[in-house]
Amino acid sequence: MEEDLRLAEEAEALAEQAEDSRALYEVKMQYLGRTGKVTALMKRMKDLAQELRPAFGKKVNALREKLESLFAAREEKLKEKELAARLAGERIDVTEPGRKLQKGALHPVTRVKNELIDVFAGMGFEVFEGPEIETDYYNFTALNTPADHPARDMQDTFYVADGILLRTQTSAGQIRLMEKKKPPIKMLSPGRVFRSDDDATHSPMFHQMEGLVVDKGITLCDLQGMLDEFARKVFAETSKTRLRPSYFPFTEPSVEVDVSCAACGGKGCSLCKGTGWIEVLGAGMVNRRVLENCGVDPDVYTGFAFGMGIERIAMLKYGINNIKLLTENDTRFLEQFK
Ligand code: DAH
Repeated sequence: MEEDLRLAEEAEALAEQAEDSRALYEVKMQYLGRTGKVTALMKRMKDLAQELRPAFGKKVNALREKLESLFAAREEKLKEKELAARLAGERIDVTEPGRKLQKGALHPVTRVKNELIDVFAGMGFEVFEGPEIETDYYNFTALNTPADHPARDMQDTFYVADGILLRTQTSAGQIRLMEKKKPPIKMLSPGRVFRSDDDATHSPMFHQMEGLVVDKGITLCDLQGMLDEFARKVFAETSKTRLRPSYFPFTEPSVEVDVSCAACGGKGCSLCKGTGWIEVLGAGMVNRRVLENCGVDPDVYTGFAFGMGIERIAMLKYGINNIKLLTENDTRFLEQFK
């Protein structure tokens, strides 16, 4: 009898001490489990005299029932406590302000490229993209720039292997297209180009937009008319263009094209260095040797070509003074183009 009391008190104290339902389960097993203390008491019954057994069995059973209800009560309390703690931990404050979604935007080079494609597509040009890794033939030789031609020094070339290079100009696309398609041709060719050149206005990788028109009776006047339209659409409604003589091996005559400065309206400012004009691209009438190289008869067809740097146009349009800003991808810079 005394033993019953002692066991019950001891179990109650331990159950009270159990911090969570797991610890409580272990205490319960110490008493009521298969090798527990109460179970051991029951096993002692067989050592008793026959007549003492019923009374002893009754007592032990009463003790078991008492402990069972004691553990059940304690377990219920602990479970309640645990549920409350879990709910508190998972609580969501629905009044908290939401996290702002960072929306991306098109890169200024992509924006200008798309805008140029729009403008020229409106004039009937079709987009053609040539490969970035080119052969010496398409990048130079077929463009009337043979191996020892001094004009090769105008562009510092990255060679990949003998006769294979990273294209220095999208002009290579002119040859690829004319080999495939007979005139009339109105081609626009955007893409990456590569040159070993690096300062505030030059980067080893940049983008160009090439244009080529070949048909019967194409003249320099057609080129200028188209350039005027381009300047009005891309820069300002009042923009004008001017052609200056220049030299490119694949055009004859060759011109450098200036656009009237949109910042000062041509009066002269720091952007145009007081001249009122800004150089934007190179162009010219396609050299008859280039047409011949592509199997186009220069006595029947003539054409003009032009090529511009997309970064340069973006820098002029948005007043960007360092080309590196366009490749650093600093979001503080890019965010301004949303
Ligand atoms: N390919 C020349 C360059 O990278 C630009 C150019 C000039 C392209 C005159 C042309 C052109 O198509 O006619 O400097």
